[in-house]
Amino acid sequence: MTLRITPSILNADLANLSGEIARIPSADGVHIDVMDNRFVPNLTLGLPVVECIRASTTAFLDIHLMIAEVDRWAPGYADAGCESVTFHVEASAAPIKLARELRSLGARASMALKPATPIEPYADLLGELDMVLLMTVEPGFGGQKFLDLVLPKIRRTRALIARTGGDIWLQVDGGVSVETIERCAEAGADTFVAGSAVYSAENPDAMVVALREQAIA
Ligand code: DX5
Ligand code: ZN
Repeated sequence: MTLRITPSILNADLANLSGEIARIPSADGVHIDVMDNRFVPNLTLGLPVVECIRASTTAFLDIHLMIAEVDRWAPGYADAGCESVTFHVEASAAPIKLARELRSLGARASMALKPATPIEPYADLLGELDMVLLMTVEPGFGGQKFLDLVLPKIRRTRALIARTGGDIWLQVDGGVSVETIERCAEAGADTFVAGSAVYSAENPDAMVVALREQAIA
């Protein structure tokens, strides 16, 4: 199974985004957390900043939208040339329509679930998706403690994905570190977001390499 490490720049130096992205050449993509102070109690950045990031790097951009009225805003990120756009199913009025729209704009379509949202009601949607993101903390902030209670959901999601026969990535986000990544990989995750673990490390790229080694172990 191919494993991907997609560090979050949430806890990086937001005044020097291209410099921060250049510090992680071993990463498989850059995870960008968009928050609107409505869907989550925090505010980060939006489309104008993402457009500037797009213009400044060829890195795979993995956009995680933690915003209300996501059906209205998500297509703009696909249109801007981001490779992957993740919407929260809790914030979408029409997730099937939205996933199809994102794909038609050339992006990978991805659906995120908060820790307490079950995957089973959405099993029939998996064929419309390129990735499922399972939050392993409550969305909103970096640096929180990994929630072990999500591990059974990672297993169940992996089993549902296997049933589709499709190559759907399974991403985990929140509290992922060298201590917790192995549990996630063992449960079936293949794509890993790590924010504070990477950007609080003295050498972020070495941490990306260490995370990958730990996930394979
Ligand atoms: C939290 C964000 C995460 C966050 C992860 O709502 O979605 O991407 O940056 O940060 P860590 O790895 O520190 O939990
Ligand atoms: Zn995220």
